[in-house]
Amino acid sequence: MTSLLITGIGELTTNVVGAGDDPADPTGLIRGAALRIEGGRVAWVGPADPRERTSHRRGDGYHPHSRRPTVLSREGADVVDVGGRAVIPGFVDSHTHLVFGGDRADEFEARMAGVSYAAGGIRRTVAATRAATDDELRARLAGFVAELHAQGTTTFEVKTGYDLTVAGEARLARLAAEVTDEVTFLGAHVVPAEYAHDRDAYVDLVCGPMLTAALPHARWIDVFCETGAFTPEETRRILLAGIEAGLRPRLHGNQLGYGAGAQLAVDLDIRSIDHCTYLTDADVAALAASDVVATLLPGVEFSTRHPYPDARRLIGAGVTVALASDCNPGSSFTSSMPLVIALAVREMGMTVAEAVWAATAGGARALARDDVGQLGVGARADVVVLDAPSRSHLAYRPGVPLVHAVYCEGMPLG
Ligand code: NIG
Ligand code: FE
Repeated sequence: MTSLLITGIGELTTNVVGAGDDPADPTGLIRGAALRIEGGRVAWVGPADPRERTSHRRGDGYHPHSRRPTVLSREGADVVDVGGRAVIPGFVDSHTHLVFGGDRADEFEARMAGVSYAAGGIRRTVAATRAATDDELRARLAGFVAELHAQGTTTFEVKTGYDLTVAGEARLARLAAEVTDEVTFLGAHVVPAEYAHDRDAYVDLVCGPMLTAALPHARWIDVFCETGAFTPEETRRILLAGIEAGLRPRLHGNQLGYGAGAQLAVDLDIRSIDHCTYLTDADVAALAASDVVATLLPGVEFSTRHPYPDARRLIGAGVTVALASDCNPGSSFTSSMPLVIALAVREMGMTVAEAVWAATAGGARALARDDVGQLGVGARADVVVLDAPSRSHLAYRPGVPLVHAVYCEGMPLG
């Protein structure tokens, strides 16, 4: 079996406690590292051969412009020398809405001129999505997947929620399942216009025929629990129906204002509550005493001018924090995890190490995955080589394309 040795790594983020130079470091950072991949999995990780370890000191071994030849078949492995670059696990983007038609740039422009964000804009995307053919949606999805890969994302979740009919939600789930295993049924995104005067009937539809139709393609169920979308009582009912059908629950909550989402997430022991922009002290304490992950989505605050969520407060209280893009045409039309990291560090009080962990291992926690988001032995070999001597450059050089190479299950992409 061919194996691949990636060596000359200036600093390697493993996210394995005890694997790094500091045994207590949650990101398991090794300076001067190598990584061996076999059969798409990490077979070995540790310090590089001392003869190749130019320096343990930060950045000293960084020589990205030298063209050292790739050495083939040393001890049965292909060898790639990455010239002192930093290496991290592929990003795990646990929250996206990538199956949709149309565009809402006009709403973004209006917001930048002072108009506030409202959940009702979702209905515009619903109309455009219903009008799009399978092939149009597929082509759009393929474009987004290429965008994600180019920015270092190797695992991503995709939600339905822009059709809101039985056949249409099943169609979106089926199309999403063509590009990811992490499909979320979000029939409870908003109440569509045709049910505006009978929301109970819509909730019945979501809990019954719509759930049944989407089920074969989905792993998760989600509800937008917010003023203008679904009440806490409706949310509870829909999530319980999904759990009963075998789906795992997650939740959009506390995005636009204070509300019952966080407490409900704890009561139902769901995997992740996403947004968490408006939390009371009681919400934070309840999350801290639970296993619920708080997934923060700063692309939304960037694009809606809401205040950023306070990651420092959550981490200080002991809550597990993940970062995700929430890529969607309304509230956050970015697929860039490097941008999300930069915002989290600049605006939300996270250290670089915390933000990189949250965008990799944190996303994996939010998706209940232990095979991705880390580079310990046995992990899926999803590896991102940065064109930088350290992971700090993700925040230090915002907006600069820093992804040098991406390996997905050990295979180079692109
Ligand atoms: O996560 N919160 C609900 N859904 C999206 C917004 C979708 C839209 O505006 O189209 C979100 O922010
Ligand atoms: Fe969302």
